[in-house]
Amino acid sequence: MPILARNAFEFFSHSPEQTRRVGMRLGALLQPGQVVLLEGNLGSGKTTLVQGIAQGWGSPNPVSSPTYVIVNDYRRADGKHLYHADAYRLTPGNALDTAILDLDFVLKDGTLVLEWAERVQDGLPNEFLRVVLSWMSEEQRHLVFTPQGKQYETMLKKLQQSLFGA
Ligand SMILES: Nc1ncnc2c1ncn2[C@@H]1O[C@H](COP(=O)(O)OP(=O)(O)OP(=O)(O)O)[C@@H](O)[C@H]1O
Ligand SMILES: [Mg+2]
Repeated sequence: MPILARNAFEFFSHSPEQTRRVGMRLGALLQPGQVVLLEGNLGSGKTTLVQGIAQGWGSPNPVSSPTYVIVNDYRRADGKHLYHADAYRLTPGNALDTAILDLDFVLKDGTLVLEWAERVQDGLPNEFLRVVLSWMSEEQRHLVFTPQGKQYETMLKKLQQSLFGA
């Protein structure tokens, strides 16, 4: 396993429910304008994490996998949006804005959660929270959260506090 980057935080999940709970804690911290990049193989738990994120964020609707529609748009009563996008079908080298969505538009009053972010070559923001998920065994997943930018470092500290106290 590679050495963790400075400020990174790793979590071992033992069940889909536990992954959803971590997602809920993260979702509660997300603000408009923020971006979460999810990376990891088929079945590593990205969508499961997003189910929790959407719930914690306050989505009135449950999450379904966006693999075929590319972007799902969840809207809260306060008018804010949670965009759940999937780059699985991107040809490697595609730019985010031409292939999936207009980032400026989306981030104006929304938060973006992007599955298969490693397939996007261009057009990603400079700052984001990256979550890399990997399959350990049937019910175990390894999640590594890495912040890029101050606001995401702060977010990650709050997430750790929310999960473990401190
Ligand atoms: N600890 C765990 N965390 C998350 N999912 C788990 C865990 N243990 C088992 N699973 C199961 O693994 C599967 C994860 O599927 P999920 O759709 O979340 O993955 P994904 O990374 O989004 O895949 P895809 O790339 O196909 O979109 C689900 O069936 C889930 O129930
Ligand atoms: Mg998925």
